[in-house]
Amino acid sequence: MDELLTIKNLKVHYPIRSGFFNRITDYVYAVDGVDFIIEKGKTYGLIGESGSGKSTIGKAIVGLEKVTDGEILYQGKDVTNGRTRRKMEYNRDVQMIFQDSMSSLNPKKRVRDIIAEPIRNFERMSAGEEKHRVQELLDIVGMPNDALYKYPHEFSGGQRQRIGVARAMATNPKLIVADEPVSALDLSVQAQVLNFMKKIQEEFGLSYLFISHDLGVVKYMCDNLAIMYKGRFVELGPRDAIYNDPQHIYTKRLLSAIPRLDVAHREEHRAERRRVEKEYITHQKDYYDSTGRVYDLKPLPGDPEHLVALKPEGGNS
Ligand SMILES: Nc1ncnc2c1ncn2[C@@H]1O[C@H](COP(=O)(O)OP(=O)(O)OP(=O)(O)O)[C@@H](O)[C@H]1O
Ligand SMILES: [Mg+2]
Repeated sequence: MDELLTIKNLKVHYPIRSGFFNRITDYVYAVDGVDFIIEKGKTYGLIGESGSGKSTIGKAIVGLEKVTDGEILYQGKDVTNGRTRRKMEYNRDVQMIFQDSMSSLNPKKRVRDIIAEPIRNFERMSAGEEKHRVQELLDIVGMPNDALYKYPHEFSGGQRQRIGVARAMATNPKLIVADEPVSALDLSVQAQVLNFMKKIQEEFGLSYLFISHDLGVVKYMCDNLAIMYKGRFVELGPRDAIYNDPQHIYTKRLLSAIPRLDVAHREEHRAERRRVEKEYITHQKDYYDSTGRVYDLKPLPGDPEHLVALKPEGGNS
């Protein structure tokens, strides 16, 4: 196994301040104890409903959010704090693509400067070399050369997203955290960007942490999946194990809600959805502890790669 990134018991809690003195009165447990491993060249999907903590995990990994507790190891070294990150070139090796390229790309900068920014931060290049590299990157993402001197607002959503990809690729990273990279795009453009991401993955041996709430997209892109609910993982494992044999009620419900195109089995799917919904209503409480918290993940008997957060045997929480 070729481990690139290891996340151990990661927690990110946001303080909530209130009242006249603006004191911390509570915390949002945005991420509350998750563990996973990212291997070289693979794609990991993070799915779950809005507010479940997906983006917070991504931001904690790239250092945009402070880690409350837990560890992030990169190639076996602790990069939870900034000092080791800088030493290890971690910030160069791990890049992020954001959902909303309109707000993540600086509107006042030209494309050339936007894409060159990470290069300027991490590499020493002459102006000529830099321009060449930016052109090469634009070419990789299928953008015309005259894009160099334009501003983000002069592009369509799909084009802007590709500029975001070019920027993330600029330093030849090893891991890209892609937070809903295509959800703002039309279906046809989505496919283009996704195929393109797959292509550069093969070419450069990239790993992705792919955040999405689109289960179709995730199925297409990912080797492994983590299903998130309220800051915790309810299920984790290889894609096919999750899609073909979901164990947690939350995963089952999420999967049964995927719209199906095949007309022949429409009635079956409808019945299946009703069955899962009924199971959810009657057995929901068995899947969470008395405070509503998701249990700790445990490997399924006979399948150490497929982990599920089920109630511990004989536990009476
Ligand atoms: N800066 C912040 N301060 C306080 N709470 C925050 C902050 N950022 C996020 N949160 C809260 O943390 C939780 C997780 O947010 P996060 O953005 O990670 O969710 P998400 O799974 O990415 O959702 P979405 O699918 O809508 O993007 C939410 O309850 C959110 O309101
Ligand atoms: Mg998000």
